Amino acid sequence: MEPKYAACVVLAFSLMIITIHYLQPNGAVTDATQTASLSLNASQYPAKKISQSMFGISFEEINHSGAGGLWAELVSNRGFEAGGPNTPSNISPWTIIGNETSILVSTDRSSCFDRNKVALQMEVLCDIDGENICPAGGVGVYNPGYWGMNIEQGKSYRVVFFIRSLQPVEMSVSFIGSKQQKLATSDIKDDGVENWKKVEMVLEAYGSDANSRLQLTTSKRSTIWLDQVSALPLDTHNGHGFRQDLFDMLAALKPGFIRFPGGSFVEGDRLMNAFRWRETIGSWEERPGRFNDVWQYWIDDGLGYFEYLQLAEDLGALPVWVVNIGISRNDQVDTSLILPFVQDTLDAIEFARGDASSTMGSARAAMGHLEPFDLQYVAAGNQDCWKKNYRGNYMKFYNAIKGAYPDIKIITNCDASAAVLDHPADLYDYHVYTNANSMFSMAHNFDHTSRNGPKAFVSEYAVTGGEAGRGNLLKALAEAGFLIGLERNSDAVEMASSAPLFVNENNQRFNPDAIVFDSSKVYGTPTYWMQLLFKDSNGATLLDSTLQSPSSSLTASAISWTDADSSRSYIRVKVVNFGGNTVNLDLSVEGLDINSIEAAGSTLTTLTSTNVKDENSFNEPKKVAPVVKALKNASNKMRVIIPPSSLISIDLQLKSNVIQVAGSIGAHASL
Ligand code: AHR
Repeated sequence: MEPKYAACVVLAFSLMIITIHYLQPNGAVTDATQTASLSLNASQYPAKKISQSMFGISFEEINHSGAGGLWAELVSNRGFEAGGPNTPSNISPWTIIGNETSILVSTDRSSCFDRNKVALQMEVLCDIDGENICPAGGVGVYNPGYWGMNIEQGKSYRVVFFIRSLQPVEMSVSFIGSKQQKLATSDIKDDGVENWKKVEMVLEAYGSDANSRLQLTTSKRSTIWLDQVSALPLDTHNGHGFRQDLFDMLAALKPGFIRFPGGSFVEGDRLMNAFRWRETIGSWEERPGRFNDVWQYWIDDGLGYFEYLQLAEDLGALPVWVVNIGISRNDQVDTSLILPFVQDTLDAIEFARGDASSTMGSARAAMGHLEPFDLQYVAAGNQDCWKKNYRGNYMKFYNAIKGAYPDIKIITNCDASAAVLDHPADLYDYHVYTNANSMFSMAHNFDHTSRNGPKAFVSEYAVTGGEAGRGNLLKALAEAGFLIGLERNSDAVEMASSAPLFVNENNQRFNPDAIVFDSSKVYGTPTYWMQLLFKDSNGATLLDSTLQSPSSSLTASAISWTDADSSRSYIRVKVVNFGGNTVNLDLSVEGLDINSIEAAGSTLTTLTSTNVKDENSFNEPKKVAPVVKALKNASNKMRVIIPPSSLISIDLQLKSNVIQVAGSIGAHASL
């Protein structure tokens, strides 16, 4: 125990408000220790069930979350389409190895793939035996991936590309490290590539470098066309293409749902660039890719509609598909012309849910997923309620989807928390980006909203602005207060997720974010760690609790839940102390027999730091992370000391003979 808290412990169970000097996060010395009490009822009936999908994740193709992030493809602009359909075109980030006396590189529209016609042409002028001798190592092109490829010794990488040449081909395919060292290589020789041919190989790395590149070189005079060059590590999650370390971060959150693929990305700055599910399914080399015009980068669409559904399934999360209903940030389809868009969405739903013999279900089955995906939620647009055609288009989508799939829950963009909706919906989308104080006080936002209409889907919340830094403790605590409010109002709120989820350190388009990564490393911001303390609330029972506190900087909630792995039941009390004072919290658990709590398995988890502006980083990934301690004095009545600026989670393990009744713990349930 830190010495600064020791004085507080001596005073356990004292109801006196004592005063000690405490060094505040900002360096100021204030007088403070306050006493508060929280009493909760573990035996209430009927139980108040929190939605099984209360806390989830909102995945948007922003900040290179997918391309150059969760989608493990190492090659950027693999089909040479990023420069647009017209040639000559910019092939960035591909780069030439050699100079114009040894190689000429250009693009033409000779690809064998109809939807992405641009191919790379390399005219190799030098030759190992000729007069114009090639530089050592040959000439060709290399791709640096997304700010460097992470190549790791002992790991294997599948490299695939399409090639054509009128001459026999001799080529080396290699991963090269940042000091020009070879990390893996393979040579190909082929005299029969007059027509496009697929080349596939597995390279095993004998060295490591997080800033590597893939290069294709030759020393033989020839003209070679290349297209659709891909390099994927073999160790992606379940072989499904998801970068394992980033997937693990998501899985640890046990998300109840995953909303995808945005956000504003779904709208597009203009409709012509918006996400089109149909162009993202089927074999990867056939996908045209698109310019993400909202967040300003090219994506090859390796992470497509199918992969999003697969990701949801792999995470055990319900997919929430956000559909563009003919509205972008700058243009709209008139409602009189919307029916083809509606049909397109019905086709997408059939792709996800139809059996393998249905037209679109068979397309899914052909991709290897015979069983339908569990698509139950469709969100109609993103932040579009105020747009002229929103209601007209929405109703066309609503009626068609409900007609074909009555069980699908449809989420409107219009806020039903303040006024009654003028259109039907199962849920309404609610976004909040604000400063820390407002976010914390928004814990009460849903206290008085209607319990009869559609429930809220808080699909994007975040503290933003300078005070949030790049994702600090202050942000996390304010958001934790907000989530406690959502939990307490879980009869009005069905789902919640922070936004944005991911950021590639090299291309932050939106700040702050929950998870930061580069080519080889990842860390969670305090917001991420905060969310971990809410993961067991999905499907839990909300317990009635009454907080008496001299300060409005304190907020709390209590749940009971059973751990699926151990079958052990717990009461969890979460408290956010948003203020600068230490608080002695006297906790009393009513409705439980006196010996129901097992002190040995009970814990106290604290998320705090010496300064609310503290952040994590690659160097200090867990500077602000939960610290778990045994709670040896756990019992029905106990005192817990809550540090200033902290989120704590008190986990009281119940004895195995204490049974749960209808989700809550009966007063006489102890056997
Ligand atoms: O989460 C980042 C962006 O913020 C989303 O794309 C958009 O919906 C919101 O404005």
